[in-house]
Amino acid sequence: MNSTPLAGSTAVVTGAGRGFGRAIATALVGAGARVVGVARTRAALDQVRESLDPFDTGAFVPFAADATDPNVTGLVLDEYRPNLLVLNAGVSPLSRPLHHHTWETFSAPWHVDVKQAFHWTREALLTPLAPGSLVVALSSGAAVMGSPISGGYAGAKATVRFVMEYAADESERGGLGIRFTAVLPQLTPATELGERAVAAYAARAGVDVETFLKERGPGSPRSGWARRSSPWRRIRRRRARPPCSPPPDSSQYPDEPRLDHASAPLPHSPSPPTPAV
Ligand SMILES: NC(=O)c1ccc[n+]([C@@H]2O[C@H](COP(=O)([O-])OP(=O)(O)OC[C@H]3O[C@@H](n4cnc5c(N)ncnc54)[C@H](OP(=O)(O)O)[C@@H]3O)[C@@H](O)[C@H]2O)c1
Repeated sequence: MNSTPLAGSTAVVTGAGRGFGRAIATALVGAGARVVGVARTRAALDQVRESLDPFDTGAFVPFAADATDPNVTGLVLDEYRPNLLVLNAGVSPLSRPLHHHTWETFSAPWHVDVKQAFHWTREALLTPLAPGSLVVALSSGAAVMGSPISGGYAGAKATVRFVMEYAADESERGGLGIRFTAVLPQLTPATELGERAVAAYAARAGVDVETFLKERGPGSPRSGWARRSSPWRRIRRRRARPPCSPPPDSSQYPDEPRLDHASAPLPHSPSPPTPAV
């Protein structure tokens, strides 16, 4: 069996400095591909290179840059002409109830995850990449299940999935032969982003991380089991707080701009009694 089936091919992996991106880069280098790893932190990319390509043969090329910058997209595709593009970089969303988000924190995943998918996909179609090339974007199970304390994350990931579907359609209509697909991983504490989110959801459910993971189970977002036993439903059952009551410790959101529950009731809260004069 060929142990390097991807020999001679070039892959670009965004967010290759840690987490899924680093794991994907490791697998691709192992399969013989040259990998260009994009992330903003040069030191993390250098560590990946030292581990995957200690003799600096060019098997892993660190490219320190912001993957949402359209100039970066153009530069990387023009210079490396990849036949595999893995759009993995993503912002770690703030874990807060909806009304403790600002518009800026709520929309952050749109400004990173969706923006990245848009620029790279557009450039892949316009360049165009060679026929037979593959573009894979990291969406999330949240695109199907929702993600109630992650602001606009679930919607952004659903849009990433749509962007890939639209691009696949354009590729077919234009006879380009480029394949586009999205993958929808489930929440896992195995990465920085996932560890933070799992801890926040466990705290919201009032259980420890281990119990949360056990109760959440292995159901796929598409399975009937997962729909029936959505973790968010079970979390809601466990925790019957009134919907707009303050979280247990409001001081956990120190930079929050305005929603001080003592002084700013939500619009549908009963009006405070008019003081007697
Ligand atoms: N972990 C999970 O449970 C889970 C589940 C479903 C989907 N996902 C998705 O899988 C992807 C990877 O997640 P992960 O858990 O591996 O995250 P992670 O551990 O936080 O790693 C994210 C990587 O993306 C890079 N990155 C972030 N913003 C960037 C930008 N603007 N430009 C370039 N690189 C950027 C980070 O490096 P720098 O900060 O140095 O740039 C880092 O290398 C994300 O799209 C995430 O939404 C994760």
